[in-house]
Amino acid sequence: MTKEPKHMTQDELFKVLVAHCKEYGFIFPSSEIYDGLAAVYDYGQMGVQLKQNIKTYWWEAMTRLHENIVGIDSAIFMHPRIWEASGHVGAFNDPLIDNKDSKKRYRADVLIEDFLGKIEEKINKEVAKGRKRFGDSFDEAQFRATNPNVLREQAKWDEVHNRYVAAEKANDLAEYRQIIIDNNIVCPISGTCNWTDVRQFNLMFQTSMGSTAEGANIIYLRPETAQGIFVNYLNVQKTGRMKIPFGIAQIGKAFRNEIVARQFIFRMREFEQMEMQFFIKPGTELDWFAKWKEARMKWHVNLGMGAENYRFHDHEKLAHYANAATDIEFNFPFGFKELEGIHSRTNFDLGNHQKFSGKKIEYFDPEENVSYTPYVIETSIGVDRMCLAVMAHSYTVEKLENGEERVVMKIPAPLAPIKVAVMPLVKKDGLPEVAQKVVDELKYDFSYQYDEKDSIGKRYRRQDAIGTPFCVTVDHDTLVDGCVTVRDRDTMTQERVKIEDLRAMIDKKVSLTNLLRNL
Ligand code: GAP
Repeated sequence: MTKEPKHMTQDELFKVLVAHCKEYGFIFPSSEIYDGLAAVYDYGQMGVQLKQNIKTYWWEAMTRLHENIVGIDSAIFMHPRIWEASGHVGAFNDPLIDNKDSKKRYRADVLIEDFLGKIEEKINKEVAKGRKRFGDSFDEAQFRATNPNVLREQAKWDEVHNRYVAAEKANDLAEYRQIIIDNNIVCPISGTCNWTDVRQFNLMFQTSMGSTAEGANIIYLRPETAQGIFVNYLNVQKTGRMKIPFGIAQIGKAFRNEIVARQFIFRMREFEQMEMQFFIKPGTELDWFAKWKEARMKWHVNLGMGAENYRFHDHEKLAHYANAATDIEFNFPFGFKELEGIHSRTNFDLGNHQKFSGKKIEYFDPEENVSYTPYVIETSIGVDRMCLAVMAHSYTVEKLENGEERVVMKIPAPLAPIKVAVMPLVKKDGLPEVAQKVVDELKYDFSYQYDEKDSIGKRYRRQDAIGTPFCVTVDHDTLVDGCVTVRDRDTMTQERVKIEDLRAMIDKKVSLTNLLRNL
């Protein structure tokens, strides 16, 4: 059995994944019978279970494994002043640019970052060529320091990068445009460099609340769940008698009117976040920031998708609320990209809500006999982006010894939508009845599918395609020895197991409890 190389271009991967996700009931384009709605997706019968398992893994890791973290579920609609206080009305913008020929809209910063990415690719290709040429004696550092092609590309990268960082810091929109023009960054559709000016575009969706449009107040669909936590800080702290340090966790929908939304569920206009705000004493934030970086990385790596597929990316430009920030990036087949953000948000949010609401939001520290506005470390991960990471990593095409191919989703077993498939070998001789008894034995503990259609080979393929860790087959021998054949998704090995031992055997591999125990 050999594994096909997984390296695909972003376009290829999305095509294959999007088709697979649709065919097997993971994800459908929203409103598809009306030709869809851009960057909005629905989760199907498989996707919803994968998503739920991810949420449960996060929720339990946060709230059950930490005595000092509690959960809430706040409303999506909030008082509009909240978004002024949080800075989103004034500063939650993306720099937008249009190509006058194709009429396509882009994020100016993304155009520049993609350009920098292409230069990096060129450099890496040169390095790979050198490695091939010099073999074991290859010295990468020396090659990078002396090869004229690498030096030329590196100088270009440095120049563009420095200008870009300076423009970002100064919020200089004209300079963004100039970088694009000077480097002849063209629209991928029209191929021209005929760009408009760069404008700021606020990402919040608006709607109105009230019985008539005239008397209505503008309200926003929340662009992050975090503010629902901040404005409930006092409620939770008081009613839960919480002592600092403590955290509040929340899972919920967020909405952003993304300019560039062409990356399947990586960047959506309606998505779900899992956020935790950890309230701490001012001055301790860098220690807690380091602790949460470590804890969150452990949570990811614990899933077994390869420690080498994650890395931290510390922010050079900090959001308006942060004094330190990092991303946990995942190695998507289209490169390392942000999966989760960890931010040291100071007392920016609580301080501003205090100012804007006129309500005192302070903590009295009984041990030190002082009052202060707590500082906050935030961990924030997108559920959908996590689903994409799991699905992109799990999607595997294998060549079998008999020359056939199988597509198997090697989803970490505790996250798999269906844990076990139960199949009678044939639809007669009393086998379906015994298989039904096996289902009755397992259904209280595991999500399952019962399948008696088609050949066993075809049924295995169907389960591989949705990532079911175990297939259990009831055959004629079962009637005699009370054993079933259990086939493992990843190794395809089969073993005979007594029906009464099935539960424990399956549980060992798919148990979320075991996963949590390893944290
Ligand atoms: N409260 C902080 C916050 O919202 P963020 O870095 O803007 O920070 C956190 O978002 C996470 O939410 C990201 O790491 C990503 O996983 C997810 N996310 C953000 N925008 C998204 C979008 N348009 N579609 C899908 N997921 C998104």
